[in-house]
Amino acid sequence: MQVRPADAGEIDYLAQLWHDAWHGSHAHLAPLELVRLRTLENFRDRLAVKLPDVCVVGPAGAPLGLCALKGDELNQLFVSPQAHGTGVAAALIADAEARLAARGVELAWLACAVGNMRAARFYEKSGWRNAGTFVMMSETSNGPFPVDQWRFEKQLTRTN
Ligand SMILES: CC(C)(COP(=O)(O)OP(=O)(O)OC[C@H]1O[C@@H](n2cnc3c(N)ncnc32)[C@H](O)[C@@H]1OP(=O)(O)O)[C@@H](O)C(=O)NCCC(=O)NCCS
Repeated sequence: MQVRPADAGEIDYLAQLWHDAWHGSHAHLAPLELVRLRTLENFRDRLAVKLPDVCVVGPAGAPLGLCALKGDELNQLFVSPQAHGTGVAAALIADAEARLAARGVELAWLACAVGNMRAARFYEKSGWRNAGTFVMMSETSNGPFPVDQWRFEKQLTRTN
């Protein structure tokens, strides 16, 4: 399964994918105020900033999933429901780990909303360890918003 950099022309499609996948998996877990702040425009704005660090799987113009890095963090991993269980997420996380290792990251981490059981199971079977709970300040158009998260970590092998 080929993982490739996101193309700037895919930003609207990817913003919709991220919006829909976030609401499908987080709307029942997140505070109502945060759900209201997570508009399509908000996803598009945040994606525009992240785009150089985003990789995708799927056809040009219609990717099936995206993965973004931020420093030593696996920052976002969202796959369209039609591609759940197909190996798209596995390809994206393997690529993300390789990109992090190539940056010299030895201990990678990610935040997963407390109660997001499918994601937690996926991370565990991908070799990540749940290191506990913390409060993350999520970026919103109203400033930082506190959200309870699980911190997952994985020791990587250096490739540079
Ligand atoms: C998280 C995500 C990337 C994982 O990709 P995926 O293709 O669904 O992952 P897989 O199907 O390979 O693995 C999911 C595992 O969770 C299991 N699972 C599904 N629902 C579950 C639940 N409610 N509780 C516990 N485990 C669950 C599946 O059975 C599978 O485990 P198995 O392979 O041992 O049977 C994808 O589901 C997704 O994009 N979800 C929406 C967005 C999201 O939550 N992103 C993560 C943000 S931290």
